[in-house]
Amino acid sequence: MKNYTVFITSNIPQEGINLLQRQGYILKFGSLKKAKGAHALLCLLTDTIDAKVMDFVGPQLKIISNMAAGLDNIEVHEAVKRGITFANTPGVLTEAVAEHTVALLLAVSRRVVEGDRFVRAKKYKGWQVDLLLGQELQGKVLGIVGYGRIGSRVAAILEKGFGMRVVYHDEHRNEIAEKNNAKYVSFRDLLRISDAVSLHVPLLAGTLHLVGEKELRMMKKTAYFINTSRGAVVDEKALAKALEENTIAGAGIDVFEHEPKIEPSLLKLQNAVLTPHIASASHEARVAMAELAAKNIIRVLGA
Ligand code: GLV
Repeated sequence: MKNYTVFITSNIPQEGINLLQRQGYILKFGSLKKAKGAHALLCLLTDTIDAKVMDFVGPQLKIISNMAAGLDNIEVHEAVKRGITFANTPGVLTEAVAEHTVALLLAVSRRVVEGDRFVRAKKYKGWQVDLLLGQELQGKVLGIVGYGRIGSRVAAILEKGFGMRVVYHDEHRNEIAEKNNAKYVSFRDLLRISDAVSLHVPLLAGTLHLVGEKELRMMKKTAYFINTSRGAVVDEKALAKALEENTIAGAGIDVFEHEPKIEPSLLKLQNAVLTPHIASASHEARVAMAELAAKNIIRVLGA
C-alpha cells in the first residue's frame, strides 16, 4: 500500500475525516502553503486552486476534491492539462440550498428581516393596517434560471407548497420540467413576466454578469430577485442601483461578487435581505458534503 497524503484545508466534519482515516492515508491540515507533496487536496470554495497551486503541490497530485457544488474556484482546464482529477459535491446540498432560497424569498416578500429590525429598534407601537405590507406568493410567477437539481427543487417547493406558477430558462429544455408544470421561456421573457426570479446556474465564462443593468430593467417593478448561486453571475453594483431606485421590489442575496466584500450601497438597503453564503449550511448538508468529498478522494487514490 502506498502512503498517500491527503491535505485538508479546513476543519471539515469528522465524518469525512473518519472515512479518510479508515483508508490509512496520512492526513495533514492547514493552509495551501503547506500542501506540497500531497496526493489529494480536500479544499473549499474559498481556496483558489490555480496552475501555480497545482505546480507548487507537485506532480504527484492526483485529485482535487472540492467540498462544494461549484467548481469555479478551480482552474479545471489546468487540472485536465496535468491529468489531475477534480471533483465536487453536488446532490447532497440540494435540499439545504433550495430551502434557503425559499427562506430568502419569504423573508423579502413578507419583510421578515425589516420587521425584526423594526421591533428591536422599539418602533413597534401597536397593530396598524398598513404596517410593513408585503406580497403573497400564491398564483404569482416564479422564474427559475437554471433548472438543474437545485432550481428544480426550489420550483417544486414553491409550486406545490405556495401555489406559484413556474417558468424556467436553461441552456436546454428539460423534459422533467415540462412534466412538473414548469414552462420553458426565453431568458428575456422570464425576466419580463416573473414575480420572483431565482438564479441557479454555475459561474462560468458564459454566466458572468448574466444579470446586469439591462436585465434588471426588464424585470417588473414589483418583482423579487433571489441569488443563491454565485455572486459574479450578477453585476452587484447594478443590482444595488435597481434596489435603491426601486425598479425591482426587493432581493434575497446569499452570494456576492467579491466575497467577503459586499457592495457598500447594498448594505444600506432595507429591501435587500443578505446572508453570508450560508445556503448550503445545514448540519445535514455539511456532513454529507464532507463524506462525499472524502469518497471522491478514495475513489481516485484507492487504498
Ligand atoms: C456552495 O456555495 C457550494 O458550492 O457548495
